[in-house]
Amino acid sequence: MRPGRAEDLPRLFELWRREVAQGRQEMLPNETRLQRTLARFDWEAKSRVVEHDGRLNGSVLVMSRQSPDGLLSNVYAAGGTDVYTELVRWGVQLSRAAGASIAQVFVAKGGGRGLEGVGLDLVRPWWRMDRTLDTLPESKPVSGYAIADATTVPPGVWAEMFNRTFADHWRFAPRAEDEILGDRPPELSLMAVSGMNRSPAAIALGEVEDYGADPRPQPVGLVSSVGTLREHRRRGLAAWLVAEVLRRLRGAGARHATLYVDGLSPMRAYDVYRKLGFEVVSEAEVWEATFP
Ligand SMILES: CC(C)(COP(=O)(O)OP(=O)(O)OC[C@H]1O[C@@H](n2cnc3c(N)ncnc32)[C@H](O)[C@@H]1OP(=O)(O)O)[C@@H](O)C(=O)NCCC(=O)NCCS
Repeated sequence: MRPGRAEDLPRLFELWRREVAQGRQEMLPNETRLQRTLARFDWEAKSRVVEHDGRLNGSVLVMSRQSPDGLLSNVYAAGGTDVYTELVRWGVQLSRAAGASIAQVFVAKGGGRGLEGVGLDLVRPWWRMDRTLDTLPESKPVSGYAIADATTVPPGVWAEMFNRTFADHWRFAPRAEDEILGDRPPELSLMAVSGMNRSPAAIALGEVEDYGADPRPQPVGLVSSVGTLREHRRRGLAAWLVAEVLRRLRGAGARHATLYVDGLSPMRAYDVYRKLGFEVVSEAEVWEATFP
């Protein structure tokens, strides 16, 4: 085991692609976004790789962010059963030493065997829900509201909307504006606005991703950050925004739609998606260690 290096990134992507192909991980990180995130990453302190005959057989990267529950540390580990648990152990120990309150690991269903031994508990299922874009769900406008997008709503309110609507989401951690808007086309960042003064009520984001050899018809339209302010909930805003983002994703070339949802969502977000024709296609496991 040795610290990773920025130059390992192409070989890390090869490893992560194998992980997805072999069903140990559910999704591949977006390459451009990850490169941006890793621009200031402390590889020496926060990563380890296992190398064998010039090939990477395992990796672990630890990234953390502040949350109302304390420092939330994500341990991104990859590798066969021979190295996986040890890499997770390294990431959990580092998280604890760095003052994290929670260390979190996402793994494909059934892939978390042995993680109890590292002090982790299985805390919830994480679902991927998919839908074809051959057809579109009915879009039901909500009276008193309009849909705007980032072509007219300038930067400055998007992260605030994410942070306010997701404040009661499990393990919420606030995000910055550039993390929310990213580099997606502005017409794929949607906001429901209310009344004459067009005050923000709900958001939903879309992006078009190509996952290459993945069995889904490519490219895929990824729906994320669907959130409605409490006082505007249960009026059909999330359903309307998601239906509209699907229409726009198809217009931007996407042939299939995917989103991820907390399988224990107390607001039953998955029911909104189900009614729009999404179905659970795979389940990941979230494992956590909490440090008092
Ligand atoms: C999940 C969430 C986005 C739903 O937003 P919403 O705008 O309330 O969603 P909708 O109004 O479209 O649908 C919610 C429910 O209201 C119902 N509803 C829709 N219009 C309604 C109306 N006019 N009157 C009463 N109920 C209505 C829907 O049928 C749905 O019911 P169900 O959950 O029992 O199936 C919102 O609760 C939220 O922001 N949660 C925190 C963030 C989060 O978890 N996001 C999801 C991440 S995957």
